[in-house]
Amino acid sequence: MNPTLPKVTSCEPAEENIYLPKLAVLDRVTDDIPEVKTFYWHFEDPAEQAKFKRFRPGQFAQVSLFGVGEFPASLPPSPTEEETFFTIRTVGSCTAALHQLRPGDRFAVRGPYGNGFSMEDYYGKNLVFVAGGIGLIPLRSCIVYALRHRDKYQRIQIFYGARTPKELMYVPNLREWQQSAGVECHLTVDRAAEGWDGPVGVVGSLFQRPGVKIPVENTIAFVCGPPIMFRFVIKDLLAMGFQEKDIVSTLERYMKCGVGKCGHCCIGVAYVCVDGPVFTYEQIKKLGEDI
Ligand SMILES: Cc1cc2nc3c(=O)[nH]c(=O)nc-3n(C[C@H](O)[C@H](O)[C@H](O)COP(=O)(O)OP(=O)(O)OC[C@H]3O[C@@H](n4cnc5c(N)ncnc54)[C@H](O)[C@@H]3O)c2cc1C
Ligand code: FES
Repeated sequence: MNPTLPKVTSCEPAEENIYLPKLAVLDRVTDDIPEVKTFYWHFEDPAEQAKFKRFRPGQFAQVSLFGVGEFPASLPPSPTEEETFFTIRTVGSCTAALHQLRPGDRFAVRGPYGNGFSMEDYYGKNLVFVAGGIGLIPLRSCIVYALRHRDKYQRIQIFYGARTPKELMYVPNLREWQQSAGVECHLTVDRAAEGWDGPVGVVGSLFQRPGVKIPVENTIAFVCGPPIMFRFVIKDLLAMGFQEKDIVSTLERYMKCGVGKCGHCCIGVAYVCVDGPVFTYEQIKKLGEDI
């Protein structure tokens, strides 16, 4: 035996390997909008499931497809819900491989990662959610969480827009929110289609609709959507008198490790995977992020 090596007394790893994905089983898949599906899943190990369920709205996970690769995905469920799921648009190799899976197939997940939204810090405030397209994926978690803790918040308003009625996401949730007392849910589409008798126009046009009044004092605005929508909505909110620190969003960056080690997700002085993905608009501007 080499005398310079320490004597091995245990085969247990000193600490948990942060890169080790845990096995997950796909339970069912639902079609949402073109190219986007929701994947309901659970960890094989119930202990992992219990640990994972402590995630916060706005956090994300790394999803592994065997022999293909790994990609970051938001967590659209609220921690207050039973089921765990991802909602994924197919864009490349990993997301396409996930779309090929059938119930009973295995993949792997590590996380939850990132800072998430500070929902407890917003107790006592008005919440305004503004989402465009698949920007509703990360905001769904906060909305369901806020409605589950309805007595902790003042007014709750949701403004959501999609290109066409067929591209509105989470339709059963949208219907439920529209019918819930204590929440205003306004929907719009860029292009109407047969059967659509709601507003037509970009999501910001909803702010001007008769009867819509957004409180600015004591309000947090959550904004998620494509860059063009983000820019216009921010302009509208600032014109209403919102302060930059009271507008929050999530950023997407290329990620590899997801845990602040590889530097792939660096913007300015921040790593999106650990310092974000949730940032205030004030922070986004300071980081020099061009959305
Ligand atoms: C924190 C976070 C949360 C996310 N949540 C979701 C989610 O809930 N649902 C969802 O559908 N997607 C989400 N994404 C985006 C998702 O991670 C990418 O679509 C995925 O990595 C693409 O992997 P792929 O192997 O399928 O594509 P690749 O083969 O890697 O790439 C295909 C194409 O997509 C582009 N692309 C890949 N990744 C990104 C990226 N991060 N930003 C911009 N362009 C990219 C590539 O340039 C290429 O053109 C999230 C990203 C981040 C960082
Ligand atoms: S993804 Fe590696 S540092 Fe953020």
